[in-house]
Amino acid sequence: MPAQLLDGVALSKKIRTEIAARGAIVTAKGVRPGLAVIVVGENPASQVYVRNKVKACEDVGFHSVLERYSAELGEEELLARIATLNADPSIHGILVQLPLPEHIAAERVLEAIAPQKDVDGFHVANAGALMVGQPEFKPCTPYGCMKLLESIDYPIRGARAVIVGASNIVGKPMAMLLLQAGATVTICNSKTRDLAHHTKDADILVVATGKHKMIAGDMVKTGSVVIDVGINRLPDGKLCGDVDFDAAKYIAGWITPVPGGVGPMTITMLLMNTLEAAEKAAK
Ligand code: GUN
Repeated sequence: MPAQLLDGVALSKKIRTEIAARGAIVTAKGVRPGLAVIVVGENPASQVYVRNKVKACEDVGFHSVLERYSAELGEEELLARIATLNADPSIHGILVQLPLPEHIAAERVLEAIAPQKDVDGFHVANAGALMVGQPEFKPCTPYGCMKLLESIDYPIRGARAVIVGASNIVGKPMAMLLLQAGATVTICNSKTRDLAHHTKDADILVVATGKHKMIAGDMVKTGSVVIDVGINRLPDGKLCGDVDFDAAKYIAGWITPVPGGVGPMTITMLLMNTLEAAEKAAK
């Protein structure tokens, strides 16, 4: 029997209804949740992502600001802009879309965002809080993956979880969240020997490599949960993930589609983090 789909669109809709309701309550107290999104340069995928983030804010009644800068923007100018947003009481979340142009040191920029407005959860203070099990803002993509697992009541405690990809944005925070939920976690990277040996043992397989067909059907454990974070554009314009979906769907128990799996959940959890930042500001 083919795997059940982990439908990120349907789950997002449900969670966004709750976010809109909570947003209305905090707005009635005089604090309308506000998100500022900054994008530097013309990366076409980034342009789509930031537009989707701002549109999602509008849909749930949040205030949003999209600031687009040319790739020539200087690092100091960007830092000055962040300082202004840090001090702006109408803004509760600040997101600088990655990647940044090479002449800008991304880590300096991420550290400049006030930790209480760091709705991406990328500031070292928030990464550290997550590491010690006291997260303030969970990075949106791993947070969304956890919500997908919760939606099927998957027994994470004691499960073997394998994450392919060790980025600061997805792989590492995903490992922390799964570890704290009681999974036995392995993080694989581009140098891992015999990747299939690890993935075939995974009750929960999370793949975030940005490489189309990185995971073949025979690398997946029968009945497992496969969460595909990859978004790759094929030469014919179609979007696909890092997992060979058409093969893996006959082996996995649950699988996320691309598009329509993790992608919408990432934006939903960004809204959740922005809402929570506003709720804290209203206290
Ligand atoms: N680039 C790819 N994913 C993300 C994300 O979740 N946040 C930001 N700021 N940039 C990204």
